[in-house]
Amino acid sequence: MKTATSLALAISATTALATSLAPRATLPRVTVRGNAFWAGSERFYIRGVDYQPGGASDAADPLADTTVCTRDIAEFKKLGINTVRIYTIDNSKNHDACMKALADAGIYLALDVNTPKYSIRRDKPAQSYNSVYLQNVFATVDEFQKYDNLLLFFSGNELINNIPTSNTAPYIKAVTRDIKQYIGNRNYRKIPVGYSAADIDDNRLETAHYLNCGTDDERSDFFGFNDYSWCDPSSYKESSWEQKVKDLGNYSIPIFLSEYGCIKPDRKFGEVSTLYSSQMSPVYSGGLVYEYTVEGDTDQQKYGLVKLDSKASVSEQPDFAAFGTALKGAATPSGDGGYKSNLPPSECPGRSTTFLVDGNGLPAIPPKAKAFFKDGAGQGVGLTGTGSQDVGSESPGTATQGSGASTGTGSAGSASTGSDGEGAASGLRAPAFSVASVVCGLVVVVSSVLGGAIIL
Ligand SMILES: *[C@@H]1O[C@H](CO)[C@@H](O)[C@H](O)[C@H]1NC(C)=O
Repeated sequence: MKTATSLALAISATTALATSLAPRATLPRVTVRGNAFWAGSERFYIRGVDYQPGGASDAADPLADTTVCTRDIAEFKKLGINTVRIYTIDNSKNHDACMKALADAGIYLALDVNTPKYSIRRDKPAQSYNSVYLQNVFATVDEFQKYDNLLLFFSGNELINNIPTSNTAPYIKAVTRDIKQYIGNRNYRKIPVGYSAADIDDNRLETAHYLNCGTDDERSDFFGFNDYSWCDPSSYKESSWEQKVKDLGNYSIPIFLSEYGCIKPDRKFGEVSTLYSSQMSPVYSGGLVYEYTVEGDTDQQKYGLVKLDSKASVSEQPDFAAFGTALKGAATPSGDGGYKSNLPPSECPGRSTTFLVDGNGLPAIPPKAKAFFKDGAGQGVGLTGTGSQDVGSESPGTATQGSGASTGTGSAGSASTGSDGEGAASGLRAPAFSVASVVCGLVVVVSSVLGGAIIL
């Protein structure tokens, strides 16, 4: 819902000794196995908060300023969370100090790779899928892959927010594929990559299955979705969560709520104990409360956990204690929580009246972006660049399935097994958006009023 409109570990013998005497060892890296996350051999549940102080209008990077991150990490520790999601960072800045402070507090980062100016636009997905965009995305991957407490990357957020915009799904899937391929070819560790879906019932399931079908190179590593359906007083059944657990029961990759919480002030957080219960743990891996700071101006929008007072201080709102208490009272299930280790990938859903995607072809990666697999992406442009959305389409056509597999040769050799895009322009074309973009514009306004939205 966020409008993203919306040490070096060169440890010498001495510092290694100092580190071993420190109270906390480094956090274990989190991996995906079956439909769950794992921190080492322990099942990992996301117990988190969505974090972007300043919100959309002032897209500032909270991890580039130690005054800001230190202020907030003190609050995170009080809450007892283990993850924050950040929607926009400045990839030209250094994040060592804040990432270490998060790690010292036992906190992982779930990071969106998009920024207001460097993102896929739902009204012109083909034009905004280009090498200038991917360069900045890959630079963000370069900047954050080195931190063990980087949990995952979101390739996109709420791009699909109604039926017409489901035609952006191939671009979401292509960007996911490209990030995975970049990670593989740069010889980085296997960082999970996936999408954060909007809270819409029309095509949530189709989107989930579409992103988890086909060849492994094109499939997501997880599916996050935003869910505001539980508003107390409510229940597992009344909220529709029970039905969603049933519908997604055979989903083969981890699922979690990338945003949740009733969008009203003075929340009770009755859903928290259910989210971490054994009713949901076989299918879900926790979630992130929306959101840390109060960003709205009206009484109806004041549902954050804290209010920003100054750069150095915040005041805790009633939601803060309510969420902290609920979270501390919600122990995670013992053992593996009933996870499933070897469910098959999804069947591709096919076109329907609610999911407007023909076939399973994806746009081939632009050749200039493919060159980054071998050479690296170089410096990120941060939040001040001129933007990528109007650069224009550079995809040469439809990719061959499997072409996004990585060779893992990094900078040393040839970059790809790909035979992607060799003149096959079928299947994918820029959708006729003249009418739909008007619809989209309205949706943007509406969802902004509701306190959030999009990549714009
Ligand atoms: C999950 O798989 C089982 C066994 O194949 C099947 O009976 C059930 O209908 C499936 N559930 C859903 C929601 O697809």
